[in-house]
Amino acid sequence: AYQARESLYVLSQFAATFFKEQLWDSDEGRSVGLSYFRERGFREDVIRKFELGYSPDVWDALTQQALNNGYAHQYLEATGLSIRNDKGRVYDRFRGRVMFPIHNFTGRVIGFGGRTLKTEKSVPKYVNSPESDIYHKSNVLYGLFQAKKAIRDANNCYLVEGYADVLSVHQAGVENVVASSGTSLTTEQIRLISRFTENVTILYDGDPAGIKASLRGLDMILEEGMNVKVVSFPDRHDPDSYMHAVGAAAFRTYIEENRKDFIFYKADILLAEAGNDPIKRAGIIRDIVESISKIPDSIKASVFVRECSRLLEVEERILLTELNKMRAARL
Ligand code: UTP
Ligand code: MN
Ligand code: MN
Ligand code: MN
Ligand code: MN
Repeated sequence: AYQARESLYVLSQFAATFFKEQLWDSDEGRSVGLSYFRERGFREDVIRKFELGYSPDVWDALTQQALNNGYAHQYLEATGLSIRNDKGRVYDRFRGRVMFPIHNFTGRVIGFGGRTLKTEKSVPKYVNSPESDIYHKSNVLYGLFQAKKAIRDANNCYLVEGYADVLSVHQAGVENVVASSGTSLTTEQIRLISRFTENVTILYDGDPAGIKASLRGLDMILEEGMNVKVVSFPDRHDPDSYMHAVGAAAFRTYIEENRKDFIFYKADILLAEAGNDPIKRAGIIRDIVESISKIPDSIKASVFVRECSRLLEVEERILLTELNKMRAARL
């Protein structure tokens, strides 16, 4: 089993090198892939640091190259780099896409995300490697290998949704950034972050899906006993589009000045929805106390209860009663 896994690692590295060479050294890669990255404003040093690549727009470029280099079909299929159809024909999973290799936190390549260059809605925007013996999506964070030192130094981890967000935030000089990419955030991913820091700042997309994911993510992070803040982005921007719209310096200022403690973030979102409806306001109070009740440390929780009492003008005593009821119900 060890040897089989080792073969998957070696093949994944071979593929990463192949995609990288295609991007920098082939006519198609340069004129299609590299131009695409440049048009999106990605700097060359960042493209190199994240080892981005390009998969040629033909059926089996990688498959043939790997077979010629002695790699077995078995491993090509086990990594999901090649797909065998009903008729037994083997072809590349990634074709005509810009490639984002996914590393584990020790730096080995374990999978890929490939973005289409087309704009048709019928084409999936990203194709990702499937689960394999070396790639378990729920315990991987994109960019962690490149970010881990910066996360320790800053004692904070920025959490974004996508590959491009990681690149752009990194390019803005904020290197302590990772993405849960392709899956909704898992407890394993949060525990992976907790090896480096107990402070997380969520920078999800400014669309309804991103807001919903932020609310879910912050509860999960609180449950792990970590501290969580949230920055929201205007007008459906995501961190990538916002960074390119305002520039690196303004982006850094924005995330410094707009980070909200989870309680203020949640209150802002929910109060905006509720307006002056008293019944809805009561629901909000309960919703926020619910989040506070997830904090394992009761001293920390009591600090947030006081905060919440001030913010929503409700007596602390009432909030504490509610909090204790929720805790008891969960035992
Ligand atoms: P988004 O739809 O927000 O894409 O999905 P994005 O990252 O902003 O992509 P760009 O900027 O248009 O290139 C966020 C993340 O969800 C995963 C990817 O990891 C993506 O980065 N995703 C999205 C998929 O896996 N498949 C998809 O078809 C779409
Ligand atoms: Mn396994
Ligand atoms: Mn989105
Ligand atoms: Mn996005
Ligand atoms: Mn984007």
